[in-house]
Amino acid sequence: MKVLVIGGGGREHALCWKLKQSPLLSELYCAPGNPGIAELADLVPIRSEDFTELAEFAAGLGIGLTVVGPEVPLSMGLVDEFQRRDLLVFGPTARAAELEASKVFAKQFMQRYDIPTADFEVAHNEREARKAAKHFGFPVVLKADGLAAGKGVLIVSDRAELKAALAALFDQRQFGSASERVVVEECLQGEEVSILALSDGTHLLPLATSKDYKRIGEGDSGPNTGGMGAHSPSTLVTSEQGSQIIERVMRATVHGMAEENRTFVGVLYAGLMMTADGPRVLEFNVRFGDPETQPLMMRMEGDLLPVLLAGARGDFGSARVGFRQEAAACVVLASEGYPGEAVKGEPITGIEVARRQPEVEVFHAGTALADGTLVTGGGRVLNVCATGGGLADALRRAYTASAEIHWPSVVYRKDIGRRVIEAD
Ligand code: AMP
Ligand code: GLY
Repeated sequence: MKVLVIGGGGREHALCWKLKQSPLLSELYCAPGNPGIAELADLVPIRSEDFTELAEFAAGLGIGLTVVGPEVPLSMGLVDEFQRRDLLVFGPTARAAELEASKVFAKQFMQRYDIPTADFEVAHNEREARKAAKHFGFPVVLKADGLAAGKGVLIVSDRAELKAALAALFDQRQFGSASERVVVEECLQGEEVSILALSDGTHLLPLATSKDYKRIGEGDSGPNTGGMGAHSPSTLVTSEQGSQIIERVMRATVHGMAEENRTFVGVLYAGLMMTADGPRVLEFNVRFGDPETQPLMMRMEGDLLPVLLAGARGDFGSARVGFRQEAAACVVLASEGYPGEAVKGEPITGIEVARRQPEVEVFHAGTALADGTLVTGGGRVLNVCATGGGLADALRRAYTASAEIHWPSVVYRKDIGRRVIEAD
């Protein structure tokens, strides 16, 4: 079978790496991909947002299954377009993707189905937002309704910060139409975990637990990023809590979406805060997490392709996913400046040395080729991943391999997983 993966980051590299191992695969394509993915798949120079072109490409080539990485094409209706042409695709329709694309929809949905989440109010203007913030007290969280590439969440600790946040959301409209409505919600305390499950619209196949590290700085300081590291398992979720989350959050969501004529096929990802009162949903995503997918793919047993194919057909049937006992970790190597404007175009060395180490894989995110030389091409550049008997082993391997890789502006957090290991 010919498979097309859409996207071009570390998540898509890890998905291609896993799918490439499938005996059912004949040819693998990735649009637009990156230089690392080029070693595994034929790259297709079409942007992930150009879904009409992608659908034409898939139809023309006889692609048997398409797997979508990023959220933007999903929320724009890529799956709807593929389905109109009878092309099999694993991902949610635009209506189902609203779970990620509209925070107001997601919060009101959780309220309707009694899914545990932070208390909230919806504000349409500055006055309503101020009133709601006063109601919750500081610290308080303000979220632009629409997609904002992970930057639309502002945690506000005092009046001066509230003023700046309201100006950014309502006056300067930094998030464009994404902030026409704003969710104001109670600030939750605890550790974050990511729970992902595959859905065929009715049934769920839960993946192993994972945790990502969103802040740029060590000790979880500084601004949020797309993620600076991840590991699986998370170890912060007991098996009892895990089952509770699957029932009360994940199954309740798939059931509710079906009830509302928004049947959810694809990856359901809940970002949760483990609070003293139990798990609370911070957000839903409608796709594989990045960088959580990298360690998850390294731990996954068996063949992913028939599972995604069955899901895309709307019935998992007997398809199952399993995970090895071993842990897996991912360290994100970025360039100075990220999450702001990062230095680009610097030559990268040492990847081959790093990859030769046992149990290590290096996935590409923002890399590029300049006259045949591999150079940095984005903020997050490489994902150095490793497995190990336990989390400490996996992290040690990932860090030892990371030390082999060089470019002038490379930066990475040295404390991924540290607190979790110390707490264990
Ligand atoms: P979201 O895009 O909604 O996941 O928010 C991004 C990040 O903001 C989350 O991963 C949390 O670190 C933080 N966050 C979001 N909502 C809350 C909340 N209610 N309380 C505390 N932190 C939050
Ligand atoms: N790791 C966070 C995300 O994929 O949104």
